[in-house]
Amino acid sequence: MHRWLMPMLRCPTHRRGLDLCDERVENDVIVAGTLQCPDGCRFPIRDAIPDFVPGDQYVESFSTQRRLLKRSFDGYVGGHSGDDLAHRSRIPPEEFARGVTLDAGCGYGRYCRFVLNAGGTVVGVDLSMTSLRLVRELLGDHPRLALVHGNLYELPFADGAFDRVISIGVLHHTPSTREGFRRINRFVKPGGKCCIFVYERYSLMRKMVDVHRHWTTRIPEGLLIILLSLNQILFHWLRKIPGIGRVVYALFPCDIGKPRWRQRITMDFDAYSPTYAYSHSHDEVYDWFVEDGFTDVRLGRAPIWVVGTRATPAPASVERSTPQREPAAV
Ligand SMILES: C[S@@+](CC[C@H](N)C(=O)[O-])C[C@H]1O[C@@H](n2cnc3c(N)ncnc32)[C@H](O)[C@@H]1O
Ligand SMILES: [Zn+2]
Repeated sequence: MHRWLMPMLRCPTHRRGLDLCDERVENDVIVAGTLQCPDGCRFPIRDAIPDFVPGDQYVESFSTQRRLLKRSFDGYVGGHSGDDLAHRSRIPPEEFARGVTLDAGCGYGRYCRFVLNAGGTVVGVDLSMTSLRLVRELLGDHPRLALVHGNLYELPFADGAFDRVISIGVLHHTPSTREGFRRINRFVKPGGKCCIFVYERYSLMRKMVDVHRHWTTRIPEGLLIILLSLNQILFHWLRKIPGIGRVVYALFPCDIGKPRWRQRITMDFDAYSPTYAYSHSHDEVYDWFVEDGFTDVRLGRAPIWVVGTRATPAPASVERSTPQREPAAV
């Protein structure tokens, strides 16, 4: 952890600043120590990551997923580089170079990497410690990167601490997408931006996946991985038979885009295993931004990416309009 993070940190319960005690510093990085709140709460720093939550809570499936993809990490990251962030979010790359970005639910850090490459500073927070360790493997101890083990429902930051908050593919995996959005957007400073991506409600594939999730989220992860592997093998052969392949795909959707088996099974595990996976409409998400005081709310270049600017000051009333999808850029 770097010292520049200290003024941004708050106790998630009492919202008070934290003191650093018993620190061990190596090469200007605080690798161990304790963060202490004046009201008595104490949070350890381990392996240079401040720890604000016990365990991985309900995101164990994401930790398993990261362990799965670790063996084909280079190939996987190649296909999920995160280089599309500026394009999809409509936030120009040069904006990421300014100020500090919060990546809420950073996963293995592809968007943290984008911000660093753009010349910016980024705080990556995730509930899965396994994911944070992968970020460390991917990006090392970068001086403009801080990692925090925390829950986006109770983040340990000062209100308005960030120039922008991004949360890509995360909020629908929490107990309430709407509430999750409310909890993270308070950290955007006036004039700053918030960008989220959530699952689209009207996708037929998502509907079918949701039908299966009633049982796929209840069986042991090992068994699910075996079934998903069998489904991939079965589909690999059946897709060659005209007509049949489509039916099988519609009944039990699986990834067909990734070049390697392991990558496809990892994608399927991502779809079928998370405890929560809600889907939403453009209008719904657009309204959340307006309700929470964002202006210039725009749809991104893929469903459902939405970006808005925190009003300065928040307007008394915001004109509501039906969002218009802009033509997809080539
Ligand atoms: C589908 S992954 C997306 C990761 C990353 N944003 C990306 O696009 O590569 C969702 C991530 O959200 C994290 N997550 C889920 N609920 C969370 C919560 N309440 N607080 C923080 N992270 C959470 C999971 O651990 C997982 O790493
Ligand atoms: Zn406290």
